Amino acid sequence: MSDTEENSSGIDTPKQLVTVLLAAFVFPITIVVLLAQLATGGISLDKNDPAMSGEAIAKRLKPVGSLVLTSTLPQAGEKLKEKASLTMTMLPGAASGDTDKVKVVYTASCAACHASGAAGAPKLGDKKAWAPRIKSGNDTLYNSAIKGKKAMPAKGGNVSLSDVDVMAVVDYMVSQAK
Ligand code: HEC
Repeated sequence: MSDTEENSSGIDTPKQLVTVLLAAFVFPITIVVLLAQLATGGISLDKNDPAMSGEAIAKRLKPVGSLVLTSTLPQAGEKLKEKASLTMTMLPGAASGDTDKVKVVYTASCAACHASGAAGAPKLGDKKAWAPRIKSGNDTLYNSAIKGKKAMPAKGGNVSLSDVDVMAVVDYMVSQAK
């Protein structure tokens, strides 16, 4: 029994030691990586993979729901819906032309009553309702809109509006009723 003094691990040279160490690390790691890929279905970073196309990614990142603004007023007609959907894109400053701005202000501060006729407000485009008011003159109308009149609060309740903005909306409302 000449080899009783040798250890029984079979490692005799430094080279063998390196081999054993490599095997001890590389094999388990490889197996873990393979198992991980099996579990995740493999992660593809290939740009040509259809799953990585911009469209597919956008689809995956898509929010679960989307917000739809509509008015709950019973009389809500197509016109009102159109105005309501307008609000979505109408963050202050988003408006380009002046007409657009007027519509933004109208939608944000006046449409609540004037699109539906709520609280007895003359409806936008309702010639009959507007005719006697138009007769009273622009200044009267401006004054009513800026200071308020009966059920209508001053500036439609949006005190941050400038007089000029309110007057522009009045002009717009009047122009829609002619
Ligand atoms: C809370 C509801 C409400 C809002 C918001 C509102 N109005 Fe009115 N508005 C009314 C009512 C109600 C009347 C009718 C008042 C009356 O003559 O009895 C009216 C009347 C008017 C008139 C006619 C005034 C007159 O002298 O005959 C104008 C012009 C007008 N509104 C402009 C506006 C403008 C511009 C805005 C937005 C800045 C606005 N309104 C927002 C309720 C509203």
